[in-house]
Amino acid sequence: MTAVLEISGLNKSFGGIKATDDLNLSVTPHELHAIIGPNGAGKTTLISQLSGTQQPDTGTIRFQGQDITQIAPHKRAHLGIARSYQITSLIMQMSVIDNIALALQAHDGHSFRFIRPARGIKSLRDRAMSLLDRVGLADKADLSTAALSHGEHRHMEIAIALASEAELMLLDEPMAGLGLEASAQMVDLLLGIKGKHTILLIEHDMDAVFALADRISVLVYGHIIATGTPDEIRSNEAVQHAYLGEE
Ligand SMILES: Nc1ncnc2c1ncn2[C@@H]1O[C@H](COP(=O)(O)OP(=O)(O)OP(=O)(O)O)[C@@H](O)[C@H]1O
Ligand SMILES: [Mg+2]
Repeated sequence: MTAVLEISGLNKSFGGIKATDDLNLSVTPHELHAIIGPNGAGKTTLISQLSGTQQPDTGTIRFQGQDITQIAPHKRAHLGIARSYQITSLIMQMSVIDNIALALQAHDGHSFRFIRPARGIKSLRDRAMSLLDRVGLADKADLSTAALSHGEHRHMEIAIALASEAELMLLDEPMAGLGLEASAQMVDLLLGIKGKHTILLIEHDMDAVFALADRISVLVYGHIIATGTPDEIRSNEAVQHAYLGEE
């Protein structure tokens, strides 16, 4: 079975700081793989190298068998890698459904260039509606995006990632800034997506990580010190010492 993502010997320094230190990781098809680690461990830097916004110093990244280390971010997106967008990618003045339709259109720009406009618009709205349904926002479709809560904006980000039909979704702290109830709703949403896409999840919320992950990798000072099932990680002494013990 070809790994969806195969990272070998990845290194990235900022001045004297090794943000990524000989990092090796293999992510299998349709698994939800969580990366945990203390602040500054290099989690976001890893995601940036996978989405292509930062270049590693050395090492290789393979996606579905193809070496993508030198490939530009937009080409990686086209190959099927989606990074969860920051809140600023939503256009607050537009309606909820129009934000999703825009994302669908951007994706279609690559794949269905010749679709007839009128039919295209109807089906675009239907597809946007079905994505909003999947993230639990169908009843908010026609509201202004600005009227939604922070948690609902996070759900819209997931809908936008889903719009790209990406094989690999890179999610950098989707629960950040969410309260207990909104976090629980995000866990439910991700449980629903799980198994249909390959997901690399970075998250500080340990309850969420242990509820969602098939496997967990622990990153400390840019290096993965352990990879395993939630049970294996929970009982791993090096992990307890380096990270979980702090909590
Ligand atoms: N553009 C940059 N220039 C200089 N140093 C950087 C840059 N980006 C990250 N770093 C440093 O690299 C290290 C890893 O940072 P990174 O943001 O990847 O950590 P993180 O695990 O995502 O942390 P957090 O949990 O706080 O989000 C840190 O020491 C950080 O200060
Ligand atoms: Mg980060």
